[in-house]
Amino acid sequence: MKRLVSLISALALACAIPAFAQSTSITPEDQVKAMGPGINVAAGWDPYWDGNPSPFRLSYINTIKEAGFHTIRIPITTFRHMDKTGQHLDAATFRRLDAIVDAGVKAGLNVIIDEHDYDDCGKDADACAALLPNVWYELSAHYKDAPPSVMFEVLNEPHGAIDDKIWNGWIPDLISIIRETNPTRNIIVGPTHWNSKNDLPLLKLPDADRHIIVTFHYYDPFHFTHQGASWAGPEVAALHDVEWKGTKEELAQLDADFDQVAAWGKANNRPIFLGEYGTYGKNNPRLDERAAWTRAVSKAADARGFARAFWYFSEGPVGFTAYDTDKNQWVAPIKNALLGQ
Ligand code: BGC
Repeated sequence: MKRLVSLISALALACAIPAFAQSTSITPEDQVKAMGPGINVAAGWDPYWDGNPSPFRLSYINTIKEAGFHTIRIPITTFRHMDKTGQHLDAATFRRLDAIVDAGVKAGLNVIIDEHDYDDCGKDADACAALLPNVWYELSAHYKDAPPSVMFEVLNEPHGAIDDKIWNGWIPDLISIIRETNPTRNIIVGPTHWNSKNDLPLLKLPDADRHIIVTFHYYDPFHFTHQGASWAGPEVAALHDVEWKGTKEELAQLDADFDQVAAWGKANNRPIFLGEYGTYGKNNPRLDERAAWTRAVSKAADARGFARAFWYFSEGPVGFTAYDTDKNQWVAPIKNALLGQ
């Protein structure tokens, strides 16, 4: 998983590096404490990334900060922005990413650059192995002087073709690529099966590297959070009116699930970040239940000292939306649930 950086491209990179102050380091434990409530924003498929008119505005980064969030996670899809050689990320993508990272840093937010080509990677591990290291050479060099509030997440939700054997083989290579230029930046890594808590015991991390935060995603009960979601298959796409009442049993399950993650974190001495959780609204008209689930999951994370990032800032009236970009206002029950208001 190595590549040679030509002198010309190294010079080009050097010129493109944004002018951040020199960084000092922060322990992953302290960083997780500082990350608190966060939110996913500006995902790779937003028209913003192609320079097209988009409901996303850079000013939303301040909106997020002012509401009381401490972290943004930016799910970028870099593969389609690599040049023909598969080695370099195009300048426009860097410019657009710089703009968000810069706005986040200036707002005093923690900023996660999350490599989100998980669909491509899940389908073809070899194609992924050819591109992902190059992406991390590029991003690592470019952001090497960014403050420690900027973190790298090596790959969202490894799954499919990327089983634990492949994933555990890649992790040391990807981390060492990043470490060449970012010796102490906190790196976020999660288990296979879409960052499932159940795969945490399979995850193998370099013991000596103490600047790692471990992530998992939580969308249980899946039939509640994903009812109507076409990408989850025909059975789930057809579901509607699946309820979540916050019963004793439902809350006990949530506690048991989060205890399982907390126990793994403690046993392995790794701080935990819940990088995605949320509910899809298309076939679920019950905003009160969606908010109650969001509140319960947020509290379960906070109670165990996990940082967290909600999925997702805004994707139209029936998406996982926390902010309505048509009305320019927060979806109050969701925002309040996320911020304990
Ligand atoms: C995917 C989104 C999806 C969400 C919930 C994310 O990781 O990138 O497309 O809406 O998970 O399923």
